[in-house]
Amino acid sequence: METPFTNSYADTTRAAAYARLDFPGTYYLAFRDLPKLIETYASKGKALDFGCGAGRSTRFLQSLGYETTGLDISAEMLALAHQLDKGGQYQLIEDGQLNGVPDNHFHLILSAFTFDNISTLEKKTALFREFHRVLKAGGCMINLVSSPELYVNDWASFQTTCFPHNFIAQSGDIVNTIITDTDDPRPVDDELCTNADYRNIYDEAGFAILKTHKPLATGKEPIAWVNETRIAPWTIYVLRKI
Ligand SMILES: C[S@@+](CC[C@H](N)C(=O)[O-])C[C@H]1O[C@@H](n2cnc3c(N)ncnc32)[C@H](O)[C@@H]1O
Repeated sequence: METPFTNSYADTTRAAAYARLDFPGTYYLAFRDLPKLIETYASKGKALDFGCGAGRSTRFLQSLGYETTGLDISAEMLALAHQLDKGGQYQLIEDGQLNGVPDNHFHLILSAFTFDNISTLEKKTALFREFHRVLKAGGCMINLVSSPELYVNDWASFQTTCFPHNFIAQSGDIVNTIITDTDDPRPVDDELCTNADYRNIYDEAGFAILKTHKPLATGKEPIAWVNETRIAPWTIYVLRKI
């Protein structure tokens, strides 16, 4: 029987290790191009950080001038978000729910790495329907996820090739990584989701894809890249509510 999917971030040791991460190594590439993408495609105002974790991505949005709300299902991660940003707005939510979040409220929704950790296509689609509901007309949604290639190559900040099942995984299967930039070497459970499946989810939930961005390193950064100059570890979907 297959092991059920667990949220690797509902754990105090993992939360503490993750909260100490800034934007090192491979993570740098995830955030490097976001300011330009947000400036190009989103209006200023209210932003929702879905799966805010310990608040790294929420504080990033604040630094761009957004009034932010961070939501997460992990009390362990949220406790650290509160500690690191005493005046910030963070809220614990039920898995798969955006209950209490008003309609047509946000100019921008960012989800940074969260959908790697959400199991089942149905739940992903239901959440995107909720994003459609809580975004203002014409609002922008940015979904930053691991590229499928992340799980079959090694990186400055991740080991993945030590997991043989990653190489035969299909969309919906569990894949694993080890984050080498933290002092927590335990594998993280992700769920593989292909580009084709994400496109179907966006279509079903009423989103148009404005841009699919695959950030690569230039090779000039002072970082010991492994594959980052030739394979994009992340996929950044910029979506518009239609
Ligand atoms: C890899 S962490 C990223 C945290 C943050 N966005 C960042 O960039 O630092 C993923 C987060 O997604 C959260 N998460 C997983 N499933 C979720 C769900 N169904 N709803 C909301 N958050 C979820 C986890 O608890 C975890 O805090």
